Amino acid sequence: MVTQSRTSRSTEAFFGRRRGKTVSPQQDAALKAGLKAYGLDLASVPPDDLRNLFEAKISSVRLEIGFGGGEHLLRAALTDPQTGFIGVEPFVNGMAKMMMAVAKAPLANLRVHDDDATQLLDWLPPASLDGIDLLYPDPWPKKKHWKRRFVSPVNLDRFGRVLKPGGSFRFASDIDSYVNWTLLHCRAHGAFDWQADDAGGWHSPYAGWPGTRYEAKALREGRRPAYLTFRRV
Ligand SMILES: C[S@@+](CC[C@H](N)C(=O)[O-])C[C@H]1O[C@@H](n2cnc3c(N)ncnc32)[C@H](O)[C@@H]1O
Repeated sequence: MVTQSRTSRSTEAFFGRRRGKTVSPQQDAALKAGLKAYGLDLASVPPDDLRNLFEAKISSVRLEIGFGGGEHLLRAALTDPQTGFIGVEPFVNGMAKMMMAVAKAPLANLRVHDDDATQLLDWLPPASLDGIDLLYPDPWPKKKHWKRRFVSPVNLDRFGRVLKPGGSFRFASDIDSYVNWTLLHCRAHGAFDWQADDAGGWHSPYAGWPGTRYEAKALREGRRPAYLTFRRV
């Protein structure tokens, strides 16, 4: 019964590949040990104050959805040790890469979840996050697949519930139709104010931006990314 409901929940917003090439024995060991140390137990009751999820003494908590190989998440967690980071990635090879990195250099301000981010969002207490990053989400460029996009009215309701007032939702993408889609959905939703920046413009990366693997591919292929920031009103 429990297994069944978990199976159906895990596919609500995840339509990608779970696995790529076979993980090496070393990666597999890092993955198992890493998930034991950093993985969140969504069967437990979440703490009222999310800062208690972390070993480090931290002042704020951010979530990164779909961190891929963890390039951005790792850099953010290293450069900002007073912020707690929760990273979500259902793709096994991506999580294995991240867990290899923290096996070498442990992080006291990191926790992870290895399945659909909607599960984690529904587990989090209301108004508990300072920020959500959705960086290069799966673009689903064909119109018939747009309903698979992570940005949707139901997921914006989820973001609205877990973000603190004034908290940020950052969205980066190289797919123009997804950028427009996100602007329109956020405007229609009403809980998010777009922080249009007339100085740098929406084509300037965020401050301290380390880039991501997916972004490097988009740039190589000549696409121009957009970086949007919304505030929870
Ligand atoms: C295009 S990749 C981008 C990865 C990374 N952010 C980057 O920029 O390199 C999108 C990632 O989102 C993950 N993803 C897709 N649906 C998801 C979901 N429902 N919850 C969490 N992650 C998801 C995929 O597994 C994939 O790694």
